[in-house]
Amino acid sequence: MQKMEYSGTDSEGREFKNAEEMWREEIGEQGNVQKKTEWYQKAIGYWQGVEASVDGVLGGYGFVNEPDIKGSEDFLKSILSERFASSQQHLVALDCGSGIGRVTKNLLLRYFNEVDLVEPVSHFLEAARTSLSPEHGFISDDHKAANFYCVPLQEFTPNEGRYDIIWVQWCIGQLADDDFVSFFKRAKAGLKPNGLFVLKENIAKSGFVLDNDDKSITRSDSYFKELFNQCGLYIYKLQDQKGFPQELFAVKMYALATDSRKRTRGSRQKQQCNKPFIIK
Ligand SMILES: C[S@@+](CC[C@H](N)C(=O)[O-])C[C@H]1O[C@@H](n2cnc3c(N)ncnc32)[C@H](O)[C@@H]1O
Repeated sequence: MQKMEYSGTDSEGREFKNAEEMWREEIGEQGNVQKKTEWYQKAIGYWQGVEASVDGVLGGYGFVNEPDIKGSEDFLKSILSERFASSQQHLVALDCGSGIGRVTKNLLLRYFNEVDLVEPVSHFLEAARTSLSPEHGFISDDHKAANFYCVPLQEFTPNEGRYDIIWVQWCIGQLADDDFVSFFKRAKAGLKPNGLFVLKENIAKSGFVLDNDDKSITRSDSYFKELFNQCGLYIYKLQDQKGFPQELFAVKMYALATDSRKRTRGSRQKQQCNKPFIIK
């Protein structure tokens, strides 16, 4: 792993001169399996104590669900129309750290024929399974939640070539830098040839902020860009989330490609896809 020279703080205001210092304290030296396991167990313990509701997974800010989904939808639509021109395609997404399936239910299932969910906290995943079940009248054969994986991202490897979009929202802060990089490197193989990651995350003004309660870190834009570089990922599109309360972190949406092509489709193909992309 490359050295991360960013300084940062924790949720109690303690300062770290660089990320190495923080990681050494939190997960120990490289290869210290026990300390790293404790880091992940504390996080899971925190989320196990949280109610399986929109308010719960959004830390008491349930009301940001609406602007969040609206911002994500605009971003997703622009990507789909540029990158996935043919509405005949069978589109498949993966919702990472899905929680109760909020993003799947409110967004992904309207655009993708199949959505898989991966989430390590079983009561969240069970809530997702229930709310996305046929009994709740939500899915049809054409757009359904297909697979539910109860695994943390640092241990998850997606099936090869299955996904058009791998959506990672508000969960990558749980992963240490080395697991972040190895997750994305492994998960690249899960993308179809034209597939993309969408990473939607809180952004620190500079360096990083460690949250001692849920054992997550909020990284700055430069910190993320350094990690993308280590993953061999390129920013295809980037957008700021609008309409959140001032007291919250800024939020960015990154569409990440495994190659550096800016646009994969010519103008002719772009014209074709001005059609709405919603699965009805
Ligand atoms: C802030 S919630 C966001 C949930 C969902 N992405 C959403 O936007 O509604 C954070 C989620 O990350 C999950 N999580 C915690 N540790 C994780 C890990 N190691 N790998 C994947 N997800 C994790 C939590 O259980 C929780 O569901």
